[in-house]
Amino acid sequence: MSLLEVNHLRTEFETGGNWQEAVSDISFDLAGGEALGLVGESGCGKSTVAFSLMRLLPGNARLAGGRIGFDGKDLADIGEDEMRRMRGGRIGMMFQNPMTALDPAFRIGSQIGETLQTHLDVDRKEARRMALELLRSVAIPAAEERLDAYPHELSGGMRQRAALAIAIACRPRLLIADEPTTALDVTIQAQILRLIRTLLIEERGAGVLLITHDLGVVAHTCDRVAIMYAGEIVETGTVASVFANPLHPYTQALLEAAPNARTPRGSLATIPGRVPALGMRPSGCRFRGRCAFERPDCADPSGPPRVRLDKHREVACVLHAA
Ligand SMILES: Nc1ncnc2c1ncn2[C@@H]1O[C@H](COP(=O)(O)OP(=O)(O)O)[C@@H](O)[C@H]1O
Ligand SMILES: [Mg+2]
Repeated sequence: MSLLEVNHLRTEFETGGNWQEAVSDISFDLAGGEALGLVGESGCGKSTVAFSLMRLLPGNARLAGGRIGFDGKDLADIGEDEMRRMRGGRIGMMFQNPMTALDPAFRIGSQIGETLQTHLDVDRKEARRMALELLRSVAIPAAEERLDAYPHELSGGMRQRAALAIAIACRPRLLIADEPTTALDVTIQAQILRLIRTLLIEERGAGVLLITHDLGVVAHTCDRVAIMYAGEIVETGTVASVFANPLHPYTQALLEAAPNARTPRGSLATIPGRVPALGMRPSGCRFRGRCAFERPDCADPSGPPRVRLDKHREVACVLHAA
C-alpha cells in the first residue's frame, strides 16, 4: 500500500503575466519504509514538487491539477487548517538551509518543545524531556547543554541535526527533505543521511522523499529513484536497476557527470547546455538540444512515449519504444 500517491501533478508559476508549467503531469508513489530520491539538475522543478506537496508554494504559483494522496486524503484538496496540522505533524520537512526550520531568536530546546506542544498533547516539562531525547537521537553531543543553545551557537552540521530533530519530533509518516545535506561537507552529509535512514525508515517505517541533485546521495540513501528533467519525470526505477542500467539519455548523462572514485574532485564532467527556462522548452521531448541520441521523431509534439518495463521501471524516450 502506498503512503504517498502523487497523480498527474501540475504546478504553474506566473511570470511576466503568463502562467508557465514548472511541474508537468508528474506521478509517483512512495511506500512506508522506503526512500525515493528525486533527482535532476538545478531548475528541473524538484523544489516545486516539494513545495506543491507541502502546499507551501509562493504567491505567484498555483497547483493547476493532480491529486496528492496521503493518509486517505488528497493534500491538493484539504483545507489550510488541516494542511497546517499535517506539516510538522504527519509530514516532516527538511530544507537545505536549517535556518528555514530554526528561529534565531529561540533556544533549540524550546523550538523543539514548541513543535511537540503544537502537535501532541504534552506539557512543557514533558516536551523538554522529549526534546532532550530527540537531540540525543540525532547524535548531538552534550545534548543537555544544546537544549539551551541558540542556533547561531551551533555549527552548520549541528543545526541540520537540530532541524532533523524538529522534523522527526512528532513521528511523521512521511519526510520531505529538499537538498538536506547539500550545504554540508561529505562526512557530515553521510552522518545525516545515515540518521535519516535509521531514524525514519528502519526504526519507524516512515517514507522519505529525498530531493537532491547528487546521485551519490541517492546511491547511499534511497531504494528507488525518479529522474526529473524540465518539469517531468523521465525515468524511474529501483536505485540498483537505474544505476546499473540507465535507460534515458539524461540519466546516462547525469551518471557520467557524477563524481565517483575514478573522477577526482575538480574534474567533474557536466552535461553540455542547460535546463531550459520555463517557456523556453522545446516541443516534443524536452531534452532535445542536449541529447546525444536525438532523432527526428523526438520532436513529435505528443512527447516521448512512456515505456514501462517492470513494476518500478519506466522511461520516457523513443529509444525504448516497442
Ligand atoms: N517563484 C518562482 N517564480 C517563477 N519561476 C520560478 C519560481 N521558483 C522557481 N521557478 C522556476 O521553476 C523552475 C523549477 O524551479 P525549482 O523547482 O526551484 O527547481 P530545482 O529545485 O530542481 O532546482 C525553474 O525554471 C525556476 O526558474
Ligand atoms: Mg531546489
